[in-house]
Amino acid sequence: MNPNIEELSVFCKKKGFVYPSSEIYGGMSGFFDYGPLGVELKNNIKAEWWKTHVQQRDDIVGIDGTIITNPKIWEASGHVSSFTDAILECSKCKNKTRADHFIEDKLKIDTAGLPLQQIDEIIRHHKLKCGKCGSTFNESTGFNLMFKTNVGPAEGSTAYLRPETAQVIFADFKQVTDTSRVRLPFGIAQIGKAFRNEISPRDFLFRCREFEQMEIEYFIRPDQTGKCPYVDEVMDYELSIYSAEMQEKKKEPKAMTIREALENRIIKTPWHAYWLSHEHKWFMSLGMNPAHLRMRQHLDEEKSHYALDTWDLEYKFPFGWKELQGMANRTDFDLKQHIKHSGKDLSYFDEETKSKVVPHVVVEPSQGVERAFLAFLAEAFHDDKERGNIVLKLHPKLAPYKVALFPLVSNKPELTKKAREIYEPLKKELNIYWDSSGSIGRRYARADEIGVPACITVDFQTIEDSTVTIRDRDTTKQRRVKAGDIKDELRRIVN
Ligand code: GLY
Repeated sequence: MNPNIEELSVFCKKKGFVYPSSEIYGGMSGFFDYGPLGVELKNNIKAEWWKTHVQQRDDIVGIDGTIITNPKIWEASGHVSSFTDAILECSKCKNKTRADHFIEDKLKIDTAGLPLQQIDEIIRHHKLKCGKCGSTFNESTGFNLMFKTNVGPAEGSTAYLRPETAQVIFADFKQVTDTSRVRLPFGIAQIGKAFRNEISPRDFLFRCREFEQMEIEYFIRPDQTGKCPYVDEVMDYELSIYSAEMQEKKKEPKAMTIREALENRIIKTPWHAYWLSHEHKWFMSLGMNPAHLRMRQHLDEEKSHYALDTWDLEYKFPFGWKELQGMANRTDFDLKQHIKHSGKDLSYFDEETKSKVVPHVVVEPSQGVERAFLAFLAEAFHDDKERGNIVLKLHPKLAPYKVALFPLVSNKPELTKKAREIYEPLKKELNIYWDSSGSIGRRYARADEIGVPACITVDFQTIEDSTVTIRDRDTTKQRRVKAGDIKDELRRIVN
């Protein structure tokens, strides 16, 4: 059962996963710090993503670019002119609120990305009034979401904190193709911080002002949109599909195979079909419940300025179905913009056709690490009434600690000595912790609450025959294994 978002944020703070940033000074809305357990979980998510999307593939390479770039990048990309949200300001109390959130709360319709006149029309038509004082709103205004800064001492040298990692990939496209051995079709991946000056950050980690993205720009030859060499791998894979047409006709999402979705032209390109399945599989491989995932196509009015077609992998968050990952077809929009604005030739020489082409980004799998973090936590959180404690059923690959080791009692030096002999070599291989305080039941409960998949207890029998007990977090079952076999047992559990 999904916990509610307050429960999750209280739990995260109490256990050292996530704290409000600069809390001793009153905090800052939309900024969060990761505590000792949170940093481990976050690093594990990123490491799993990098392994699957970069290291284990021949067709994707990675980069790590800067947060502050030449501001011309953001003029070329369209972010300076178009990366805005509509704001409503009360004519009387001057309270400001983000229009799409306000309208969604009041009317349950999604108006993100609508032009300002249309927003004002909806407000007038439905006679919506300020939530604080009940007065009418002024005409809505656009607010650019990029954070500005100055580079060097000179006033006027404005630069921006990047609002997406994607543009650094486009700006480095030529350098990557010149210096690596990638050949179309190929992807360039990046994990890194991005910043958006959200008008009203909300829902804990879901909408932060500082966050991290895991993004891939996947490039193909423009005439190959219909040719994905990997699509056969996923033809029988089933997804819950919620197309734009289904949404417009007020239908429910429908489970269907990729074959069905392609044959019925619901998903337009085999590339989109492949990436939607690939990303769904990634979440499934790390313990997601498929009933909490669906693929929703963007309606025309919600598509970003660069997108031809976008599908979101949505997760059933405690506050409703929301985007976990976006997968936009960005076409050649970005490379062409950078060619135009920089005056540089960013085309690619295709050996097969012996011609120069500007590749298309047929799919951009893009996700926020914080949203994945929140979704994995929500999925794992179980308030176990029988045990009387939370059990965090994180996938072992994501769990901050893989194992905890306990001497049965703490006041017997021979037991402590034996337990340390087992603990020390394991500590060099795995993230393991030592706990010798409190009753053994209390120590198991503490381990359950932070998602430790296995607990090893060293007892008096260990001194006799070098065996220990190993307890499974999810079943609470215990087995006796030889101390010499622990590494193999743990490897099996984690992998
Ligand atoms: N690069 C897509 C996004 O940041 O939403």
